[in-house]
Amino acid sequence: MKILMRIPPEIDDFLREHQADPQELTEVLADVQLVMPTVKVNFDPDTYGKFGVLRVEACEGTNALEPLLFGSVENLSALNRNLWEASSSDWAEEMSDVSQRGTFLKRAVLIPAVLSAVRRHTADGGTVLDLGCGDGVVFHELLSVTPRVYGIDFAAPFIEKLRRKYPNVRDRLLVRDATDLDLSQPFDTVVACMLLLGIPEVDRALEEIYQVLCPNGVVVIADANSLHHRTLGYYGRGGQLVKVHDPTKCFRVEKKIGGGAVRAIHNHRPFSYYRTWLEKRGMTCIEDIEVTVTAEQVRGLAELDASAREQLLGDVCQDIAHPPFHLLVMRKNVGIVQHNIRAQ
Ligand SMILES: C[S@@+](CC[C@H](N)C(=O)[O-])C[C@H]1O[C@@H](n2cnc3c(N)ncnc32)[C@H](O)[C@@H]1O
Repeated sequence: MKILMRIPPEIDDFLREHQADPQELTEVLADVQLVMPTVKVNFDPDTYGKFGVLRVEACEGTNALEPLLFGSVENLSALNRNLWEASSSDWAEEMSDVSQRGTFLKRAVLIPAVLSAVRRHTADGGTVLDLGCGDGVVFHELLSVTPRVYGIDFAAPFIEKLRRKYPNVRDRLLVRDATDLDLSQPFDTVVACMLLLGIPEVDRALEEIYQVLCPNGVVVIADANSLHHRTLGYYGRGGQLVKVHDPTKCFRVEKKIGGGAVRAIHNHRPFSYYRTWLEKRGMTCIEDIEVTVTAEQVRGLAELDASAREQLLGDVCQDIAHPPFHLLVMRKNVGIVQHNIRAQ
């Protein structure tokens, strides 16, 4: 049976004042308490108070959760933008050291999976939009797939830096919010790599993706796998991830990324959310796969010596057992779209 924790009246007032639902906080804490019966909770309305977002720290002994976040989607979106704009300069140097788990996963596992999906589904000379391009790691690789690549990010410092780095394509690098793209040009392929997990108002981003695709265009969505992500709970005995959340609901945490300097919002949803949403919009699923990691990928890293490879194997052993990414490719099928629009 779920035990409902008493929420201090001033916290209840804070949430109501900022159009957030106190019931959500109560329910999430009840889920946490089922797994951590003696959990200690610290309500922090100050850190993100000016955004109207409540930060909640929860721990049981030495097992601490990533801070939980509660607020209206509008307020969480404003916070998301502010966090990325403030920290974009700290995010850049992350891709150099492949002996680090995060860099390895991104360089050796995620980006090859995304590129291969784009190659499989983009016709020669097609236009590709890298949505949420950040510091351009994926953008750079996409340039080798087709010259007609565009990059969009809402954090201006990322785009300014990319324009300096790629002056020949500077006109194709734009500051826009994925939830309000306002673009006249359609694209054959939209890539959303590690983007949607960060967006509180994800329905608006999915609608914008749908709108910006050409007839028969495809979207390649790659995200952290919200079934296994390490922010969903804490590591218990034997290094097992003990999850505290209700996997059918959205679970929002503050996540330190890029070596810890960058704080962002992770909005964990069942991955099927994106597919179901786009299917309702009339799109067809072409691929829906978990992206796995193999020991062979680690052993194949020529740039690491044997001891660094063994160390990396230890760091990624959880990821070998639990695929760290999810990849979804959906096509905008014109016939089905028209049928569904009439049906709405
Ligand atoms: C985790 S980074 C991923 C960057 C890049 N796609 C990659 O895989 O290396 C997320 C990026 O999405 C951007 N972003 C987050 N929310 C956005 C939004 N609503 N509109 C546009 N960009 C957004 C952030 O500024 C950041 O650059």
